[in-house]
Amino acid sequence: MRIDVLTLFPDMFSALDHSIIKRARTAGHLEINIVNFRDFSANKHKQVDDTPYGGGPGMILMAQPIVDCIESLDPERKARRIFLTPSADVLKHKTVIQIAKHDHIILLCGHYEGVDRRVVELCIDQEVSIGEYVLTGGEIPAMVLIDAVARHIPGVINADSLVNESYTNGNTHEHHQYTRPREYRGLVVPQVLLDGNHAEIEKWRKK
Ligand code: 6GU
Repeated sequence: MRIDVLTLFPDMFSALDHSIIKRARTAGHLEINIVNFRDFSANKHKQVDDTPYGGGPGMILMAQPIVDCIESLDPERKARRIFLTPSADVLKHKTVIQIAKHDHIILLCGHYEGVDRRVVELCIDQEVSIGEYVLTGGEIPAMVLIDAVARHIPGVINADSLVNESYTNGNTHEHHQYTRPREYRGLVVPQVLLDGNHAEIEKWRKK
């Protein structure tokens, strides 16, 4: 999968240079392209925001740099284009699975008080929030989405890890897990997990 991220803060995405996401990029399962849409501003001062029509606090991201940037990345309009905003339905497991089926997605990170609505009308297929609270920008939500989606791209994680996890098969919680030592600070691993009876272990885990 190719993921293009439109942001004014490209340095924040260094979090994606580690661990499993780093390995997925190196192995070629995932191509992540961080783009500063300020570079697309037609304004001589590289301005990307302006005051809101009708008045009010804060600044609004202008349409031109964002629309030109998206059109340059996806001239044939083949990508799934997603806007990260707190005023959208909250991202759920089912939506993550749907997004993971696309070969190319574009993520637009909002900032300040908002984005000129014509960007959404002209360029955006889907709006996504990550929870019922407001963050300073869409960068961390974009990274949350990338991490959640990447796990569903074939080859990124062991397929067995997806089967029994929370939210698949309608599960909402995984069973509790233990590793060595058998006793730690007086707390002992449940005996059933030590006995080697796999039917009994399955029963215990389901319960
Ligand atoms: Cl996607 N953006 C911002 N700024 N705040 C959020 C969010 C997104 N999702 C939850 N809060």
